[in-house]
Amino acid sequence: MTSRYDFRGKTALITGASSGIGRAFAFALAREGAKLLLVARSHDTLSELTAELRRDYACDADFLTADLSTSGAVDAIAAYLNASGKVVDVLVNNAGFAAYGRFEEVPLSRQRDEVLVNCMAPVALTHLVLPGMLKKSDGVILNVASTAALQPDPYMAVYGATKAFLLSFSEAVWAENRHRGVRVIAVCPGATQTGFFDVVGAQEAAVGSPMPIATVIRDAFWALDRNRSHRVVGMKNRLLANLPRLLSRQGAARLVEKILRPRQGKELATGHAIGQVPPR
Ligand SMILES: NC(=O)c1ccc[n+]([C@@H]2O[C@H](COP(=O)([O-])OP(=O)(O)OC[C@H]3O[C@@H](n4cnc5c(N)ncnc54)[C@H](OP(=O)(O)O)[C@@H]3O)[C@@H](O)[C@H]2O)c1
Repeated sequence: MTSRYDFRGKTALITGASSGIGRAFAFALAREGAKLLLVARSHDTLSELTAELRRDYACDADFLTADLSTSGAVDAIAAYLNASGKVVDVLVNNAGFAAYGRFEEVPLSRQRDEVLVNCMAPVALTHLVLPGMLKKSDGVILNVASTAALQPDPYMAVYGATKAFLLSFSEAVWAENRHRGVRVIAVCPGATQTGFFDVVGAQEAAVGSPMPIATVIRDAFWALDRNRSHRVVGMKNRLLANLPRLLSRQGAARLVEKILRPRQGKELATGHAIGQVPPR
C-alpha cells in the first residue's frame, strides 16, 4: 500500500481523520513520510491519534478541531495555516456523513449539514489550497466520494446527490489542472468496513459485503500514481457503475429504491447521521 508519488516532507491536511477511512489515510501518509494536519470534531480522538503518529512514526503531526458544517470552519483552518506558516501540499477531503430516511422525514437542518460537510467544505478547502499548489506546480487533492455518486440513492437522496456533486466537481477540477502539476482525484468506495452503517442504523443502506479500508487506500494511491480523475473501488462496484447506462437512469433509480428500501417489519429510520447513535 505505497504510492510512487513522493509524499516525503509534504504537508497533508486530512478532514474526517478521527475515524474510518480518514484515520487510515493518516497512517498511510505518515508511513509515506508526510507531515500531517488532522481535522475533525472529536478533540480527544484527534489528540490521541496525533500522539500515536508522532510516537510510532516520528511523524510531524498536528490537529485542528473543526465542525465543517459551520460557516467559520474553513476560515479557522485558513487562519491556522497563515499563523503556522504551513502550506498544504496534499488535501484529503474525506469528512462526510449520510442521513437515511424518506426525504421529507429527514430534518432539513441535517440535510443542509450534509451538503455543507460533503460538498461545501471540499469546495472551500480546495479553493483555499489550490493556488499554493499551482505556484509549486505540485500537489494532490483527493476527494472521498462514494459509489453513491454513480446513481440516485432513494432514502439517502441528499447523500447520493452530495457525492455526485463531489465526483463531478473533482473531475472538472482535474481537467482544469491535469497539465499544471496538481492531481485531483475522486475515490468512490462502496460499502467499507468502518462504523458508517452501524451508526447510520440502516444495514439496508450497505450494498454488498463491506470492503477493507486498506482496499480504499490502495486504490486511491493507484489512481494518484496514474493521475486519474476518479477511481471506483472494487471490480464489482466498477461493473455496477454501468447500471444507469444498462437500465436507464430511471430503471437504476427504481432498482436502487428496492435495494435501499427499509426491510419489512423495520420502522423507517428518519435521518440518522453518521456519527450519531440513532434513536431506538
Ligand atoms: N464506510 C463506507 O461504507 C463509505 C462508502 C463510501 C464512501 N464513504 C465516505 O468515506 C468518508 C469517510 O467515512 P467513513 O466510512 O470513514 O466514516 P466515519 O468513520 O463515520 O468517518 C467520518 C469522518 O467524518 C468526520 N466528520 C463528520 N461530520 C463532520 C463535521 N461536521 N465536521 C468535521 N468532520 C466531520 C468524522 O469525525 P468527527 O465525528 O470527529 O467530526 C469522521 O472522522 C465519508 O465521506 C463517507 O461518505 C464511506
